[in-house]
Amino acid sequence: MKIMLAGGAGYIGTHTAIALIEAGHEVFVVDNFSNSCREAVRRVEKITGSEVRLYEADCCDYMSVRMIMSKEKPDSVVQMAGYKAVGESVAKPISYYRNNLDSTLTILEVMAECGVKSIVFSSSATVYGEDNPVPYTEDMPRGRCSNPYGWTKSMIEQILEDAAAADPSLSVVLLRYFNPVGAHESGLIGEDPQGIPNNLMPYITQVAVGRRDKLTVFGGDYDTPDGTCRRDYIHVMDLADGHARAVDYAAAHKGSAIFNLGTGIPYSVLDMVNAFSDACGHPLNYVIGDRRAGDLQDCWADAEKAGRILGWKATRGIAEMCRDSWNWQRNNPKGYADSEEDSDEEDDEE
Ligand code: UFG
Repeated sequence: MKIMLAGGAGYIGTHTAIALIEAGHEVFVVDNFSNSCREAVRRVEKITGSEVRLYEADCCDYMSVRMIMSKEKPDSVVQMAGYKAVGESVAKPISYYRNNLDSTLTILEVMAECGVKSIVFSSSATVYGEDNPVPYTEDMPRGRCSNPYGWTKSMIEQILEDAAAADPSLSVVLLRYFNPVGAHESGLIGEDPQGIPNNLMPYITQVAVGRRDKLTVFGGDYDTPDGTCRRDYIHVMDLADGHARAVDYAAAHKGSAIFNLGTGIPYSVLDMVNAFSDACGHPLNYVIGDRRAGDLQDCWADAEKAGRILGWKATRGIAEMCRDSWNWQRNNPKGYADSEEDSDEEDDEE
């Protein structure tokens, strides 16, 4: 099949492009590079030996999306174009609602015009909100989100379910990601956040490579065995393989379906720190600090449904997650800014 990857130049998108190409699909990327770069897609081409056509366009721009979709006529869209920083979404809610909802609505309108009948959406475990008990199952109701970013995911899920209910020929798959970490085993692509990382793993790797002084562990007094929060970390290549399964599922099933993409295994922040220290061969400098506002103590998946219906299961463990994150960061201490074209970019130090 021919797949349009909206927001496909980013961390999850580039890894997903590899999984889709390896599964035999043709992929093209639409991205406005608001949090990504061309070099990442060039490296996908290097890894796969396949051409990946790249369109620089904002998915909120109806005319651009229509021009691209009517020219390419994809069989399916994977919609990952969106802002994703939790803290920033609290400071700039209107920008988050505008961008994340608008890009998806625009894609849906153009899909209807161009006769594209299948969409896979990058959702998040954050839609389970604050009240559901772990492990999360897909039949739990969407909960109260603690930030606008989470609400955009929750609202878009609702929009897509409504669209599928109204059009019996439409296929919608909602993928609820847990905590993606790791990188492609080549070390050529990986997570490259702009500025100070918000998420745990890129912060750890930047400490390990000497870009940051120390990690602050947000809270050591939770009701968990070591006092730190527990999450369901999933290797990004396992997550990427989940998209390949989801695209096949959408091609064969009308209506909407939800799948958790997690391992079902919780690890604490200190578990991750220790596993990463093993992977990089030296202790990681960290301190225990205050809790971070909005953090849940526990968040992990029941991954049974994706196994049963998609035939998908995460296969890479915590050691591989840390090894591959480290391999990427060690080979690219400044991320893609290490590459020739982007070498004049400033590194954003604390
Ligand atoms: N953490 C630290 N120090 C840091 C960064 C994170 O201790 O510098 C801790 C957090 O407190 C949390 C864990 O590491 O306990 C993971 O934090 P992340 O920020 O990496 O991830 P979150 O679980 O907070 O957020 C992730 C995604 C969001 C998604 C959310 C809910 O990044 O997109 O899961 O599912 F909304």
